[in-house]
Amino acid sequence: MTQQTLNRRSLIKSSVALAAATTVPTGWAIAQAAKPLKVGLMLPYSGTFAQLGENITAGVELLLAEKGGKLGGREVQFIKLDDESKPELGPQNAERLVKRDNVDVLIGTVHSGVQMGIHKVVKESGTLTLIPNAGNVAVTRELCARNVFRTSFTNWQPAYAMGLALAKKGIKKASWMTWDYAAGNESAEGFKQGLEAGGGQFVSLLTVKFPETNFQPLLAQIQGLGVEAIGAFFSGGGAVQFVKDYAAAGIKVPLCGSGFLTEGTLQGQGAAAEGIETALHYGDGLDTPKNNAFRAAFKAKTSRDADVFAVQGYDAAQLLAIGLEAVKGNLEDDKALYAAMETTKIDSPRGSITMSPQHNVVQDIYLRKVTNGQNKIISTIAQQLADPGTGCKM
Ligand code: BEZ
Repeated sequence: MTQQTLNRRSLIKSSVALAAATTVPTGWAIAQAAKPLKVGLMLPYSGTFAQLGENITAGVELLLAEKGGKLGGREVQFIKLDDESKPELGPQNAERLVKRDNVDVLIGTVHSGVQMGIHKVVKESGTLTLIPNAGNVAVTRELCARNVFRTSFTNWQPAYAMGLALAKKGIKKASWMTWDYAAGNESAEGFKQGLEAGGGQFVSLLTVKFPETNFQPLLAQIQGLGVEAIGAFFSGGGAVQFVKDYAAAGIKVPLCGSGFLTEGTLQGQGAAAEGIETALHYGDGLDTPKNNAFRAAFKAKTSRDADVFAVQGYDAAQLLAIGLEAVKGNLEDDKALYAAMETTKIDSPRGSITMSPQHNVVQDIYLRKVTNGQNKIISTIAQQLADPGTGCKM
């Protein structure tokens, strides 16, 4: 026998085949499908992204409640793990869920660096994984995997659209400010490509370490840049601080960004955020039956307003439900499971979405402007925008 990695899924498959050859033909698979489905929720429940993790979790739970507490006929047992948005702990935390807790499905996470740790583990184990936020491009480009699906975005998508929108307004020169890690740097690249595609010029990328919130060294450089706009990627607590500091510094250069800059943060940012334009796959004022029902249910459950993170969690659970229903809860039928997930069209609160061949979400990207404390949608910048997905071989 040649040297081969026997992952958990192939081991399980061999035992199913053995059972089929010797004893009851489908009994084992039926018994598995009758067991509760163990779902690991690996998310940040502390630190700068804690609120994002909470809203993703509430979105997942909301869908499950709509389904009467079962997916594909199986009860669901959640195992929650706080990943603290610490990339150095990513692999060991993912291993804990996959190898110690034996989860059937992993939903996670928010931070792109932590996602790389999860990806390494689940690519090897074959565990079905749904990404409800982290946008690092590699996992649906050169490192794509048939067992990994993303219901959020790539860091490239909203930033590219923001660059396009700025160029369309006639802005010729802009810089990008962000944390120095995958989400920040990849969004800068998307912004640059969008700006240049519209005839603008990307001047510079300015960064601070994640999760640093002393932004004065960045803000102090703006006047010398000679730009007509500053774009930015920050999120959670860091975004609240950045927008407040930007306004307090009295900088006249308009601020824009990936929509995370003002998403789920407006209460904390207050008047400092008014007028900021951002690009994202969700926003306020989407008057559809699906979105209205979702927002009402989310508010009733959490007493908070829904945001993009809640939507992404809800859609991760929607996609999982679609897969599990197609195979009646039997995850071992992975061919049918993945086929159902790959070909579905989901009625999301954000609008209609599908999966790209690389398992990333294809979706409309909206231009929003903060108006009276809301991210009001002004227009659709890019319809059904897919990430380039370069280098993916499945
Ligand atoms: C990321 O690390 O990919 C990320 C974190 C927060 C918001 C958006 C993206």
